[in-house]
Amino acid sequence: MEQKKTTRQLGEWGAQFGNDYVDRNDFAEWKLAPGVEGFRRMIGGLELDSIIEVGSNIGLNLVFLDALFGGKVRLHAVEPNKKAYDRLLTHKINLAKAWNCNGFQLPMADASVDLAFTNGVLIHIAPDDLGPITDEIVRVSKRYVLCSEYFSHTPEGKPYHGQDGLLFKRDFGSFYLDRHPQLKVVDYGFLWQRELEIFDDLNWWLFEKV
Ligand SMILES: C[S@@+](CC[C@H](N)C(=O)[O-])C[C@H]1O[C@@H](n2cnc3c(N)ncnc32)[C@H](O)[C@@H]1O
Repeated sequence: MEQKKTTRQLGEWGAQFGNDYVDRNDFAEWKLAPGVEGFRRMIGGLELDSIIEVGSNIGLNLVFLDALFGGKVRLHAVEPNKKAYDRLLTHKINLAKAWNCNGFQLPMADASVDLAFTNGVLIHIAPDDLGPITDEIVRVSKRYVLCSEYFSHTPEGKPYHGQDGLLFKRDFGSFYLDRHPQLKVVDYGFLWQRELEIFDDLNWWLFEKV
């Protein structure tokens, strides 16, 4: 898919920096139980036919979701890093469609998927680009939007693997609600790394379109 939008952050994720992330974060059997449990807490009670993850990397979360829903949910993914995208395609899961592209122009129609989500992706979007990517996530969702990201009361940038401009923390829940008045909060919570080691202390919010 042709994409007009590119950013410094996307440049890094598409190159060696992104490939190194893939090498550090492959699937391992021990990740399955905490992964499934984390998603059970966030969305285990929902009735869903279809999900898209924006910024899936190699699809760890999709493997967890496939296990959580017994392979019954049609999964979709968008991932700009080619190495991660290629690895994503190797999982034996109910992957309806995946695209090697970014989240600024999602290749799906309005309201075409039950749930659209990010996990540790909005934190890598520069503040000026956050509105456009959440617009796309909300646009393609028929009903639910989920995000799990690093929290900060006030927006701040943090060094990430020794570099500035690649990691941003804020209250992403409030960002969604302020920008998208059609969302209401269904639930929110915290994935504590001490208990669910793969989740890296993420705050999450589940919204419903009204
Ligand atoms: C920290 S990783 C998280 C991967 C995955 N969501 C997970 O939880 O395992 C961030 C991912 O976001 C992707 N990404 C970065 N910028 C993006 C953008 N603008 N649109 C979509 N994905 C993006 C990166 O390529 C990378 O795969």
